[in-house]
Parts: sequence; C-alpha cells; structure tokens
Amino acid sequence: MARRYTDELTQRDRFFFWEPPAEGPLDLSAPFGNDHPIHIEIGCGRGEFIAAKALQLPHVNFVGFEGKGKRLSAIMAKLDTERHANVRITRIFLDEKTVKRMPPASVECIYILHPDPWPKRRHHGRRLIQRPILDVLAWLLAPGGEVIVSTDHREYAEWIQREFAAHEAYEPLPVAPEPKNRIVTYFENKKRQEGFEPTHMHYKKGRCPDPRQTFCKKFGSKTFGGC
Ligand SMILES: C[S@@+](CC[C@H](N)C(=O)[O-])C[C@H]1O[C@@H](n2cnc3c(N)ncnc32)[C@H](O)[C@@H]1O
Repeated sequence: MARRYTDELTQRDRFFFWEPPAEGPLDLSAPFGNDHPIHIEIGCGRGEFIAAKALQLPHVNFVGFEGKGKRLSAIMAKLDTERHANVRITRIFLDEKTVKRMPPASVECIYILHPDPWPKRRHHGRRLIQRPILDVLAWLLAPGGEVIVSTDHREYAEWIQREFAAHEAYEPLPVAPEPKNRIVTYFENKKRQEGFEPTHMHYKKGRCPDPRQTFCKKFGSKTFGGC
C-alpha cells in the first residue's frame, strides 16, 4: 500500500505542517495565532524560496502550498523551528474552489515561482496562470496586494503577461533586473544551467477601472476590495 506523504514527516517537521479542514472556511491566520500580514507561495517545490523569504520578513506569516506530498520533507528540512515560526506548509493543489474558502482581501503577497509550464499545446488548459485563478487571487488579495511570478519558459512568460494584461484587476509593476535579495529557487538554478534565463514579473492589484466590468460583476465590488 502507498505510504501517506505524512508518514515521511518527523515530529519536528509536523511543527510546520498545516492540515486545514477539508471543507468550510480556510483561515490562513489560524495556524499562527497572530494577525501578522499573510504571504502565500503556490508550488513551493523544494522550499528554497519560502525558507529564505520568511527570514527576510520575520513579521509576515508565510503559508506555502505544495501539491506533491513527496516534496514536503525536502521543504521541511530547510526550516528551523526557532527561526521559521512564521512558516506553515500545506499539501494542497491550490484551485479556485480552495481559494474561495479563504477570507477575501486577506493576503498581501502571492509568489508563483517557476510554475509548471505544460509546454504542449494540448496541455495548455492545465496551466495554473489563466483567467479563472487570476479572478480568485484578485479576490484573495488585499487592496494594493502583489503577485510575484517567474518562469524560465519563454512562451509561458508571454502567456502569463497576456493573461495579466487582459485582467482588469491587475497592474504591472516594474521589475528590477537582479534585485540584491532575490532568492534563486531549485528550478531556476537547474534551468539556468541548461541555458534558460528566467523572466520575472510583478503585478499589483489595482483599482477596478469600471465596476461594470466582468470581474466586479462576478465578485461584487465589496469583496474586490479595491473598487
Ligand atoms: C516546476 S516546480 C517549481 C517549484 C519551485 N517554485 C521552484 O521554483 O523551484 C512547480 C511546483 O509547483 C507545484 N504545484 C503545481 N501546481 C500547484 C498548485 N495548484 N498548488 C500547489 N502546488 C502546485 C508542483 O507540485 C511543483 O512542485
């Protein structure tokens, strides 16, 4: 019988593991017991980013979503119970339904680093970054909240830029070519060695230009938070 992903976790790892209820509201502050701002990472991979970013921003709570159970141990191994009290990892493939269980306008920043590019045209429908998830992420973001994205896949980068540009809830922000404190993830490093340079993208939840637009009609100006 297949081992459950949690079987791999040590007692120490379990400090960081958050198993939220399968149904009902998903309160991202619940595992921390404080009201610090929340940042989330979708697809933590092996955890380089969340482990380093949480040290850069100790007064922010970080929730990492990683869908693959076998990656959890690698993430936990980078976390220290004293220095990373502001980190929790959960084993969830984040989708629109799960995001809608979270409180609206409750997250300050969302990181999506090197999402799976699904390069074959027939698999493009599986790409994370497209209108349906951007709708609910805009709903989840606090007014002025930000999304930070990167990819080493040229065509997916163009796709991502088109999807954000077509969405009325987001405005692009300038990206410094190589900010000093930028954290290089496992996948970025691997792809750089294969000769693929990453594209970094940065967006802000802006004011909705016209409340009659589809987004505001669907989610209501109150929950959008920026209208
Ligand atoms: C290509 S890897 C990149 C990992 C890491 N961000 C990095 O840069 O090294 C993509 C990761 O995202 C995870 N993933 C993909 N879709 C996800 C989703 N909807 N929710 C949570 N994790 C997801 C995959 O399991 C995989 O570990």
